[in-house]
Amino acid sequence: MSNNHVEVHEANGAAFRYAPDHFFKSQPSASYIANEEQYRQMYDQSINDPETFYGNLAKEYLHWDKPFAKVKSGSLEKGDIAWFLQGELNACYNCVDRHAFANPNKVALISEPDEESEAYSITFQELLEKVCKVAGVLQSWGVKKGDTVAVYLPMTPEAVIAMLAIARIGAVHSVVFAGFSAGSLKDRVVDAGCKVVITCDEAKRGGKTINTKKIVDEGLNGVQSVSHILVFKRTGNPAVNMTPGRDFYWDEACAHQRSYIPCVSTNAEDPLFLLYTSGSTGQPKGVVHTVGGYLLNSALSTRFVFDLHPEDVFFTAGDVGWITGHTYALYGPLSLGTATIIFESTPAYPDYGRYWRIVSKWKATHFYVAPTAMRLIKKVGEQEIDKYDISSLRVLGSVGEPIQPDLWEWYNEKIGHNNCCIVDTYWQTESGAHLITPLAGVFPTKAGAASLPFFGIAPAIIDPNTGKELEGNDVSGVLAVKSTWPSMARSVFNDHQRYIDTYLKPFAGYYFTGDNAARDNDGYYWIRGRADDVVNVSGHRLSTNEIETVLDEHDGVSECACIGVNDDLTGQAVIAFLSLKEGACDISDEHVFMGFKKSLVMEVRGSIGPFASPKAIIVVDDLPKTRSGKIMRRVLRKIASNEAEQIGDLSTMANAECIPRILSAVDNQF
Ligand code: WT7
Repeated sequence: MSNNHVEVHEANGAAFRYAPDHFFKSQPSASYIANEEQYRQMYDQSINDPETFYGNLAKEYLHWDKPFAKVKSGSLEKGDIAWFLQGELNACYNCVDRHAFANPNKVALISEPDEESEAYSITFQELLEKVCKVAGVLQSWGVKKGDTVAVYLPMTPEAVIAMLAIARIGAVHSVVFAGFSAGSLKDRVVDAGCKVVITCDEAKRGGKTINTKKIVDEGLNGVQSVSHILVFKRTGNPAVNMTPGRDFYWDEACAHQRSYIPCVSTNAEDPLFLLYTSGSTGQPKGVVHTVGGYLLNSALSTRFVFDLHPEDVFFTAGDVGWITGHTYALYGPLSLGTATIIFESTPAYPDYGRYWRIVSKWKATHFYVAPTAMRLIKKVGEQEIDKYDISSLRVLGSVGEPIQPDLWEWYNEKIGHNNCCIVDTYWQTESGAHLITPLAGVFPTKAGAASLPFFGIAPAIIDPNTGKELEGNDVSGVLAVKSTWPSMARSVFNDHQRYIDTYLKPFAGYYFTGDNAARDNDGYYWIRGRADDVVNVSGHRLSTNEIETVLDEHDGVSECACIGVNDDLTGQAVIAFLSLKEGACDISDEHVFMGFKKSLVMEVRGSIGPFASPKAIIVVDDLPKTRSGKIMRRVLRKIASNEAEQIGDLSTMANAECIPRILSAVDNQF
């Protein structure tokens, strides 16, 4: 705990940062929330009288086919949470149709493909037609309400169109990030029992071609549930394999469809999508989000956190393969009828000016990205920024990992020119939308703090040792939430018990986030990284346990332990420690040893995806263990972080003699 006290103390020193005048001057119209006092009033009502608060907002922000009979029910104790009971609506109608009817020619999607010169935009009317055609194809293949459909596509408008088409017919989308391997895709398709997969022939990223369809074919080998694959021609390479009767090209299949088909009404509590995410143990979980509550909080958080107005242009640089892309590239902006930029490439392609050319070309008003991208630009691409006029920006968002105060300052100055509001938004796949976050222009923030809870979120800091909630300010511990909120995940697909065990059991009556946090003097929240074996690499959540499972399966590996260490560029990086089986590899022969390590990395890339590759593999003769045989990861963490002198209590360790050898193995590595 001594460390934690230092952290709260440091946080207390941070100054309040107020929204710059320029932010207010450049708003298209008045703020939706006038000031801090109004936030406090609204917040209090959201906690004390959620029925009135959310009942009114749900009617104001969403179109309901049938009104709801009751705003909320269920409890964290029972894990039976439901919102907007008996209400019926369609997510696609709310994101597309109603805007196409009111403003058919308003831009909905802006496509920035890998090849910069091929950018284009489409209107709400065009989006409606494209979505209807894909929805018609799915219906013709027998996809019905409640069926799951996988989407394995790069960050193209077609990914958004596919998701909306699935939602339109009441089916459930399960987007699998297109950087996942064939094996990971298979696990997810099988777990969700997907009937159809929507993908493309090949993908383009950073000038490279990725053989997406081939990966899909490999992943679906032997998978019975999938009857059809819809293949968007991204490159049009005629050599791509198509299985007759199963695989159909998007343009050909859509050509036979009508440009309008009606939406299928769904119950507010029907699932809208599954999104698989890693936890500390076991297989990835299919987190279940439901239509009504998820959509409402997507709209509300996009509106209030970003101060998003209909004429704005929102640029979320994240991928639809992750929750950020779901909520803030698609459902949030589109539910509000606002244009959203769909960016397929990388911040470095064709050069480090790419983000800023996009901002200046489309006059983006909002930019939302993970700190890892900013660290990269700060390190190698800073000279590009001032070449472009990015003065259209009004709000800059940060997401996915803690943003260090100095990076916050850099973001504010270099990108925002001290003219923007910075919102460091803390949330998770499971929360569906922001949990703790500044509201642009509403209350002051602090560099590096997620600041105050969003509406409906009652945060609690819990002492992990006693399980007791710590009251008052100036406390640190693990972060939980003691209220329910509309967009919280309702379940883990096909495994409700796992939902309860993971999120609701650790502290009875609370939703457990898995993160460490502090609440400072002013009641502001500071997120301090994960409290479990999840590492956050470039804003991607990885389970060290999952990587260990892959490495353990390698013939030469006897035992292994993966840990996260701080990394200047990627936030955290994975380091794998392993001991080898006798004769597995002659590590004194550098060439042989390099080849061996490479084969291990290839295993991880092949079974999970390239982004999960360990940064270093360190071979030791023994891993530190307790007397009962448990690997002591905290010891490895300290050694790998160069903090061996703070290793702490080793009285439970059975084999302390291995420590000097691990230290020297680490020294040799770096
Ligand atoms: C985990 C959730 C949230 C969308 C992208 C990641 C970490 C997220 C912040 C932030 C500090 C953050 C937490 C959280 N995290 N945002 N602003 N400050 N940490 O979603 O993959 O579900 O990961 O990301 O550790 O639990 P995810």
